[in-house]
Amino acid sequence: MEQVIIDKEKCIGCGVCVTICPYRAIVLVDETAEYILKDCFLCGQCQAVCPENAVLLPQLTIKLGLVTMEEGEAAIPPGKTNAAELVTLMRSRRSCRNYRNKPVALAVLEDLVKIGTTAPSGTNSQSWNFIILPTMASLQVLGGMVSGYYRKLNRLAENPFLRFMVKIFGGDRLGRYFRRYHDSVAEALREWDEKGTDRLFHGAVAAILVTGKKDASCPAEDALLATQNILLAAHAMGLGSCLVGFVVEAMRRDPKLKKLVGIADDEEIYSVIALGYPAVNYLRPANRKVVVPRVLRLTETR
Ligand SMILES: Cc1cc2nc3c(=O)[nH]c(=O)nc-3n(C[C@H](O)[C@H](O)[C@H](O)COP(=O)(O)O)c2cc1C
Repeated sequence: MEQVIIDKEKCIGCGVCVTICPYRAIVLVDETAEYILKDCFLCGQCQAVCPENAVLLPQLTIKLGLVTMEEGEAAIPPGKTNAAELVTLMRSRRSCRNYRNKPVALAVLEDLVKIGTTAPSGTNSQSWNFIILPTMASLQVLGGMVSGYYRKLNRLAENPFLRFMVKIFGGDRLGRYFRRYHDSVAEALREWDEKGTDRLFHGAVAAILVTGKKDASCPAEDALLATQNILLAAHAMGLGSCLVGFVVEAMRRDPKLKKLVGIADDEEIYSVIALGYPAVNYLRPANRKVVVPRVLRLTETR
Protein backbone atom coordinates (compact mmCIF):
# COMPACT_ATOMS: atom_id res chain seq x y z
CA MET A 1 0.00 0.00 0.00
CA GLU A 2 1.30 3.45 -0.85
CA GLN A 3 2.22 5.27 2.34
CA VAL A 4 1.38 8.81 1.29
CA ILE A 5 -1.33 9.44 -1.29
CA ILE A 6 -1.69 12.88 -2.86
CA ASP A 7 -5.01 13.67 -4.49
CA LYS A 8 -3.87 15.37 -7.70
CA GLU A 9 -7.36 16.78 -8.31
CA LYS A 10 -7.26 18.64 -5.02
CA CYS A 11 -3.56 19.65 -5.01
CA ILE A 12 -3.04 23.32 -5.91
CA GLY A 13 0.75 23.03 -6.10
CA CYS A 14 1.43 25.44 -3.24
CA GLY A 15 4.44 23.32 -2.19
CA VAL A 16 3.98 23.67 1.58
CA CYS A 17 4.20 19.88 1.94
CA VAL A 18 7.51 19.95 0.04
CA THR A 19 9.05 22.49 2.42
CA ILE A 20 7.81 20.79 5.59
CA CYS A 21 8.85 17.19 4.79
CA PRO A 22 11.91 16.12 6.87
CA TYR A 23 12.47 13.22 4.48
CA ARG A 24 12.49 15.24 1.21
CA ALA A 25 9.90 12.70 0.10
CA ILE A 26 7.68 15.11 -1.84
CA VAL A 27 8.55 17.19 -4.91
CA LEU A 28 6.54 19.41 -7.21
CA VAL A 29 6.12 18.00 -10.72
CA ASP A 30 4.21 20.24 -13.13
CA GLU A 31 2.94 22.23 -10.15
CA THR A 32 1.51 19.18 -8.46
CA ALA A 33 2.92 17.50 -5.37
CA GLU A 34 4.30 14.03 -5.90
CA TYR A 35 5.46 11.53 -3.28
CA ILE A 36 8.67 10.10 -4.69
CA LEU A 37 9.75 7.59 -2.04
CA LYS A 38 8.55 4.08 -1.25
CA ASP A 39 8.52 4.83 2.44
CA CYS A 40 9.27 7.58 4.93
CA PHE A 41 8.82 7.72 8.67
CA LEU A 42 5.18 8.71 8.36
CA CYS A 43 5.24 11.84 10.52
CA GLY A 44 2.16 13.10 8.68
CA GLN A 45 3.30 16.71 8.58
CA CYS A 46 2.42 16.88 4.87
CA GLN A 47 -1.15 15.92 5.69
CA ALA A 48 -1.31 18.41 8.55
CA VAL A 49 -0.23 21.47 6.53
CA CYS A 50 -2.08 20.90 3.25
CA PRO A 51 -4.59 23.75 2.79
CA GLU A 52 -6.69 21.58 0.44
CA ASN A 53 -6.61 18.41 2.58
CA ALA A 54 -5.18 16.64 -0.48
CA VAL A 55 -2.78 14.35 1.40
CA LEU A 56 -3.81 11.00 2.81
CA LEU A 57 -1.75 8.62 4.95
CA PRO A 58 -3.89 5.47 4.87
CA GLN A 59 -1.94 3.72 7.63
CA LEU A 60 -2.56 6.48 10.17
CA THR A 61 -5.77 7.37 11.94
CA ILE A 62 -6.92 10.96 11.67
CA LYS A 63 -8.37 10.90 15.19
CA LEU A 64 -6.99 9.37 18.35
CA GLY A 65 -10.32 7.64 18.92
CA LEU A 66 -10.88 8.97 22.42
CA VAL A 67 -14.11 7.75 23.96
CA THR A 68 -14.26 9.75 27.20
CA MET A 69 -14.01 13.21 25.66
CA GLU A 70 -14.62 15.19 22.49
CA GLU A 71 -11.62 15.42 20.19
CA GLY A 72 -10.87 18.70 18.47
CA GLU A 73 -10.70 18.60 14.67
CA ALA A 74 -8.31 21.49 14.13
CA ALA A 75 -4.81 22.07 15.46
CA ILE A 76 -4.24 25.09 17.72
CA PRO A 77 -1.79 27.49 16.06
CA PRO A 78 1.21 28.70 18.09
CA GLY A 79 0.24 31.44 20.53
CA LYS A 80 -3.49 30.71 20.28
CA THR A 81 -3.98 29.00 23.59
CA ASN A 82 -3.96 30.24 27.15
CA ALA A 83 -0.29 29.79 28.03
CA ALA A 84 -0.71 30.90 31.64
CA GLU A 85 -3.38 28.25 32.16
CA LEU A 86 -1.16 25.61 30.58
CA VAL A 87 1.70 26.53 32.90
CA THR A 88 -0.63 26.45 35.91
CA LEU A 89 -1.80 22.99 34.81
CA MET A 90 1.82 21.84 34.61
CA ARG A 91 2.53 23.23 38.07
CA SER A 92 -0.65 21.75 39.49
CA ARG A 93 0.20 18.16 38.60
CA ARG A 94 1.66 16.66 41.75
CA SER A 95 2.71 13.16 42.71
CA CYS A 96 -0.39 11.88 44.45
CA ARG A 97 0.15 9.57 47.41
CA ASN A 98 -3.37 9.51 48.76
CA TYR A 99 -6.20 8.09 46.65
CA ARG A 100 -9.92 7.43 47.03
CA ASN A 101 -11.06 3.85 46.85
CA LYS A 102 -12.88 4.47 43.56
CA PRO A 103 -12.09 2.50 40.39
CA VAL A 104 -10.92 4.25 37.23
CA ALA A 105 -12.90 3.14 34.16
CA LEU A 106 -10.88 1.13 31.64
CA ALA A 107 -12.00 3.55 28.90
CA VAL A 108 -10.31 6.41 30.80
CA LEU A 109 -7.07 4.44 31.09
CA GLU A 110 -7.22 3.52 27.40
CA ASP A 111 -7.77 7.17 26.48
CA LEU A 112 -4.73 8.14 28.58
CA VAL A 113 -2.63 5.68 26.59
CA LYS A 114 -3.86 7.20 23.30
CA ILE A 115 -3.04 10.67 24.62
CA GLY A 116 0.43 9.41 25.56
CA THR A 117 1.06 8.55 21.91
CA THR A 118 0.77 12.20 20.85
CA ALA A 119 4.31 12.71 22.23
CA PRO A 120 7.21 13.20 19.84
CA SER A 121 9.45 10.17 19.28
CA GLY A 122 12.91 9.66 17.81
CA THR A 123 12.61 9.19 14.02
CA ASN A 124 8.87 8.96 14.68
CA SER A 125 9.45 5.35 15.71
CA GLN A 126 6.69 5.47 18.37
CA SER A 127 8.65 2.72 20.03
CA TRP A 128 6.50 2.72 23.18
CA ASN A 129 4.18 0.03 24.42
CA PHE A 130 1.70 0.33 27.25
CA ILE A 131 0.41 -2.14 29.79
CA ILE A 132 -2.71 -1.23 31.75
CA LEU A 133 -3.26 -2.65 35.23
CA PRO A 134 -6.88 -1.60 35.74
CA THR A 135 -7.56 -2.81 39.28
CA MET A 136 -6.18 -2.38 42.77
CA ALA A 137 -6.02 -6.18 43.03
CA SER A 138 -3.56 -6.22 40.10
CA LEU A 139 -1.41 -3.64 41.87
CA GLN A 140 -1.45 -5.73 45.02
CA VAL A 141 -0.22 -8.81 43.13
CA LEU A 142 2.55 -6.77 41.48
CA GLY A 143 3.33 -4.98 44.76
CA GLY A 144 3.65 -8.32 46.55
CA MET A 145 6.24 -9.52 44.05
CA VAL A 146 8.11 -6.21 44.06
CA SER A 147 8.29 -6.28 47.85
CA GLY A 148 9.76 -9.81 47.57
CA TYR A 149 12.49 -8.38 45.33
CA TYR A 150 13.34 -5.63 47.84
CA ARG A 151 13.28 -8.08 50.78
CA LYS A 152 15.97 -10.08 49.00
CA LEU A 153 17.94 -6.98 48.02
CA ASN A 154 17.86 -5.67 51.61
CA ARG A 155 19.18 -9.03 52.91
CA LEU A 156 22.05 -8.92 50.40
CA ALA A 157 22.83 -5.26 51.12
CA GLU A 158 22.96 -5.91 54.88
CA ASN A 159 25.99 -8.16 54.35
CA PRO A 160 29.16 -5.96 54.62
CA PHE A 161 31.36 -8.66 53.05
CA LEU A 162 29.08 -8.87 50.01
CA ARG A 163 29.00 -5.07 49.69
CA PHE A 164 32.81 -5.08 49.75
CA MET A 165 33.07 -7.85 47.12
CA VAL A 166 30.52 -6.20 44.84
CA LYS A 167 32.45 -2.93 45.14
CA ILE A 168 35.68 -4.62 44.09
CA PHE A 169 34.20 -6.44 41.12
CA GLY A 170 31.26 -4.37 39.98
CA GLY A 171 31.24 -0.86 41.47
CA ASP A 172 29.49 0.49 44.53
CA ARG A 173 25.89 -0.16 43.48
CA LEU A 174 25.02 -2.34 46.48
CA GLY A 175 26.78 -0.02 48.93
CA ARG A 176 24.99 3.00 47.52
CA TYR A 177 21.66 1.20 47.78
CA PHE A 178 22.47 0.29 51.38
CA ARG A 179 23.33 3.86 52.35
CA ARG A 180 20.49 5.57 50.49
CA TYR A 181 17.51 3.22 50.55
CA HIS A 182 17.98 0.22 52.84
CA ASP A 183 16.44 1.73 55.99
CA SER A 184 13.44 3.38 54.34
CA VAL A 185 12.73 0.23 52.29
CA ALA A 186 12.97 -1.90 55.47
CA GLU A 187 10.48 0.41 57.18
CA ALA A 188 8.10 0.29 54.19
CA LEU A 189 8.28 -3.52 54.15
CA ARG A 190 7.54 -3.62 57.88
CA GLU A 191 4.47 -1.40 57.39
CA TRP A 192 3.34 -3.61 54.49
CA ASP A 193 3.64 -6.73 56.70
CA GLU A 194 2.18 -5.33 59.91
CA LYS A 195 -0.51 -2.90 58.73
CA GLY A 196 -0.92 -3.68 55.02
CA THR A 197 0.11 -0.09 54.21
CA ASP A 198 0.97 0.28 50.52
CA ARG A 199 3.99 2.58 50.39
CA LEU A 200 4.68 1.50 46.80
CA PHE A 201 1.48 2.46 44.98
CA HIS A 202 0.11 4.56 47.88
CA GLY A 203 -3.38 3.07 47.49
CA ALA A 204 -3.67 3.82 43.77
CA VAL A 205 -6.36 1.81 42.00
CA ALA A 206 -4.74 1.41 38.57
CA ALA A 207 -1.45 1.80 36.76
CA ILE A 208 -0.06 2.27 33.29
CA LEU A 209 3.35 0.76 32.56
CA VAL A 210 5.28 2.34 29.71
CA THR A 211 7.80 0.13 27.94
CA GLY A 212 9.87 0.55 24.79
CA LYS A 213 11.71 -1.49 22.20
CA LYS A 214 15.37 -1.63 23.25
CA ASP A 215 16.61 -1.35 19.65
CA ALA A 216 14.64 1.82 18.83
CA SER A 217 16.63 5.01 18.28
CA CYS A 218 15.57 6.71 21.54
CA PRO A 219 13.36 4.30 23.52
CA ALA A 220 13.81 5.96 26.92
CA GLU A 221 13.08 9.44 25.62
CA ASP A 222 10.04 8.24 23.66
CA ALA A 223 8.56 6.41 26.64
CA LEU A 224 9.20 9.23 29.09
CA LEU A 225 7.74 11.90 26.83
CA ALA A 226 4.61 9.76 26.46
CA THR A 227 4.64 9.38 30.23
CA GLN A 228 4.65 13.13 30.82
CA ASN A 229 1.69 13.54 28.46
CA ILE A 230 -0.20 10.93 30.46
CA LEU A 231 0.61 12.63 33.77
CA LEU A 232 -0.65 16.01 32.56
CA ALA A 233 -3.75 14.61 30.88
CA ALA A 234 -4.56 12.55 33.97
CA HIS A 235 -4.56 15.72 36.06
CA ALA A 236 -6.82 17.50 33.56
CA MET A 237 -9.16 14.48 33.65
CA GLY A 238 -9.52 14.61 37.44
CA LEU A 239 -7.03 11.88 38.29
CA GLY A 240 -4.05 11.83 40.61
CA SER A 241 -0.89 10.11 39.45
CA CYS A 242 2.52 9.14 40.75
CA LEU A 243 5.56 7.65 39.07
CA VAL A 244 6.84 4.58 40.90
CA GLY A 245 10.57 4.31 40.24
CA PHE A 246 10.93 1.51 42.78
CA VAL A 247 8.85 -0.79 40.58
CA VAL A 248 10.76 0.22 37.43
CA GLU A 249 14.06 -0.61 39.14
CA ALA A 250 12.80 -3.98 40.41
CA MET A 251 11.39 -4.91 36.99
CA ARG A 252 14.69 -4.11 35.29
CA ARG A 253 16.59 -6.40 37.65
CA ASP A 254 14.16 -9.28 38.18
CA PRO A 255 13.09 -11.24 35.07
CA LYS A 256 10.20 -12.81 37.03
CA LEU A 257 8.60 -9.37 37.37
CA LYS A 258 8.97 -8.64 33.66
CA LYS A 259 7.39 -11.98 32.93
CA LEU A 260 4.49 -11.32 35.31
CA VAL A 261 3.39 -8.30 33.27
CA GLY A 262 4.36 -9.76 29.90
CA ILE A 263 7.30 -7.52 28.98
CA ALA A 264 9.18 -9.20 26.13
CA ASP A 265 12.97 -9.71 26.17
CA ASP A 266 13.48 -7.05 23.50
CA GLU A 267 11.62 -4.46 25.58
CA GLU A 268 12.63 -2.36 28.56
CA ILE A 269 10.40 -0.79 31.21
CA TYR A 270 10.71 2.99 31.45
CA SER A 271 7.92 4.12 33.72
CA VAL A 272 5.20 2.90 36.04
CA ILE A 273 2.40 5.43 36.52
CA ALA A 274 0.12 4.85 39.50
CA LEU A 275 -3.34 6.36 39.02
CA GLY A 276 -6.54 6.98 40.91
CA TYR A 277 -8.94 9.66 42.06
CA PRO A 278 -7.09 11.85 44.56
CA ALA A 279 -8.17 12.02 48.18
CA VAL A 280 -6.15 15.17 48.75
CA ASN A 281 -6.60 18.67 47.36
CA TYR A 282 -3.50 20.67 46.47
CA LEU A 283 -4.35 24.33 47.03
CA ARG A 284 -1.15 25.83 45.66
CA PRO A 285 0.97 24.87 42.64
CA ALA A 286 4.43 23.29 42.83
CA ASN A 287 7.49 25.30 43.86
CA ARG A 288 10.86 24.41 42.43
CA LYS A 289 14.48 25.29 43.09
CA VAL A 290 15.62 28.36 41.22
CA VAL A 291 17.47 27.44 38.06
CA VAL A 292 19.95 29.69 36.36
CA PRO A 293 20.44 28.57 32.77
CA ARG A 294 23.74 29.28 31.08
CA VAL A 295 23.11 31.59 28.16
CA LEU A 296 25.55 31.11 25.33
CA ARG A 297 25.85 33.32 22.32
CA LEU A 298 28.32 31.40 20.20
CA THR A 299 30.28 33.17 17.55
CA GLU A 300 32.40 31.64 14.84
CA THR A 301 36.07 31.39 15.79
CA ARG A 302 37.41 30.52 12.34
C1 LIG B 1 11.81 8.81 37.70
C2 LIG B 1 10.94 9.09 38.90
C3 LIG B 1 10.71 8.10 39.83
C4 LIG B 1 9.88 8.33 40.93
N1 LIG B 1 9.64 7.33 41.80
C5 LIG B 1 8.82 7.54 42.85
C6 LIG B 1 8.50 6.47 43.74
O1 LIG B 1 8.97 5.33 43.62
N2 LIG B 1 7.64 6.73 44.76
C7 LIG B 1 7.09 7.96 44.94
O2 LIG B 1 6.32 8.14 45.88
N3 LIG B 1 7.38 9.01 44.10
C8 LIG B 1 8.21 8.81 43.07
N4 LIG B 1 8.47 9.85 42.19
C9 LIG B 1 7.85 11.16 42.39
C10 LIG B 1 8.83 12.23 42.86
O3 LIG B 1 9.15 12.02 44.19
C11 LIG B 1 8.17 13.60 42.62
O4 LIG B 1 7.99 13.79 41.24
C12 LIG B 1 8.99 14.77 43.17
O5 LIG B 1 9.09 14.69 44.56
C13 LIG B 1 8.37 16.12 42.79
O6 LIG B 1 7.06 16.21 43.32
P1 LIG B 1 5.77 16.43 42.39
O7 LIG B 1 5.74 15.32 41.38
O8 LIG B 1 4.60 16.38 43.33
O9 LIG B 1 5.87 17.76 41.73
C14 LIG B 1 9.29 9.62 41.09
C15 LIG B 1 9.54 10.61 40.13
C16 LIG B 1 10.34 10.35 39.06
C17 LIG B 1 10.55 11.44 38.03
